[in-house]
Amino acid sequence: MANSKPYVILSAAMSIDGKIATRKGRSKFSSNKDLTRVHRLRGSVDAILVGRNTVSVDNPSLTVRRVKGRNPIRIILDPKATISSSSKIVKTSKNIPTMAIVSEIAPASHVSFLTKKGLEVIKCGKIRIDLKKLLSILAKRGIQKILVEGGGTTNWYFLKEKLVDEIIVTVTPYVVGGKEAVSLVEGHGFDNISYPLKLKHVKRIGNEIVLHYVI
Ligand SMILES: NC(=O)c1ccc[n+]([C@@H]2O[C@H](COP(=O)([O-])OP(=O)(O)OC[C@H]3O[C@@H](n4cnc5c(N)ncnc54)[C@H](OP(=O)(O)O)[C@@H]3O)[C@@H](O)[C@H]2O)c1
Repeated sequence: MANSKPYVILSAAMSIDGKIATRKGRSKFSSNKDLTRVHRLRGSVDAILVGRNTVSVDNPSLTVRRVKGRNPIRIILDPKATISSSSKIVKTSKNIPTMAIVSEIAPASHVSFLTKKGLEVIKCGKIRIDLKKLLSILAKRGIQKILVEGGGTTNWYFLKEKLVDEIIVTVTPYVVGGKEAVSLVEGHGFDNISYPLKLKHVKRIGNEIVLHYVI
């Protein structure tokens, strides 16, 4: 029987103090070796998912380039359907399968614009995106493994709903600081020490450590 939800891996590179971007939005923390590891990981999943701020700040391609492998489906959480036509994601969406997940507040004109650009638009949730419902839709389509690549707000929504099965975080040799710098997990936060995990694997790559936790 098919699983009711895909297996969810949350992946990020952070500074020693737990930031995934500086207050100016700089987020290229990883070494080339670690980026190659991430691309290998991307090649092993069915879909990569990010929040719409990550698309607007980083303008990522979310493809597998450093190793041989197929590109996973790209999924953008974009409740108001606002992702820019100049983003790499939108520009390449006729060639690489891409889904924009919107809510009922997305204006019809934005939705039809994204559809024309080649994205598949899925409506899921009244104001916010209903992640449980989304994962069930994705599972029904045969998506078994998803890599959530941030940012901090998206990570929070997944963790809040207890939807994350595995966390792979690279601790990089930098200090960022600042309340305005995005942390690995943003949002309201848990009241109590939460989300107990088991350390499955630790790998040193030069001055970085890749921590691999599972539930
Ligand atoms: N170092 C790393 O590994 C790494 C990886 C990825 C990103 N980053 C950094 O993280 C920063 C962006 O993080 P962020 O926290 O600002 O934003 P984000 O998580 O990329 O995007 C957040 C936005 O996505 C939408 N969203 C996410 N989950 C949703 C849900 N359940 N329901 C409805 N909407 C949802 C919302 O859009 P609306 O605002 O339209 O409601 C929300 O404001 C960037 O600076 C980027 O460079 C770093």
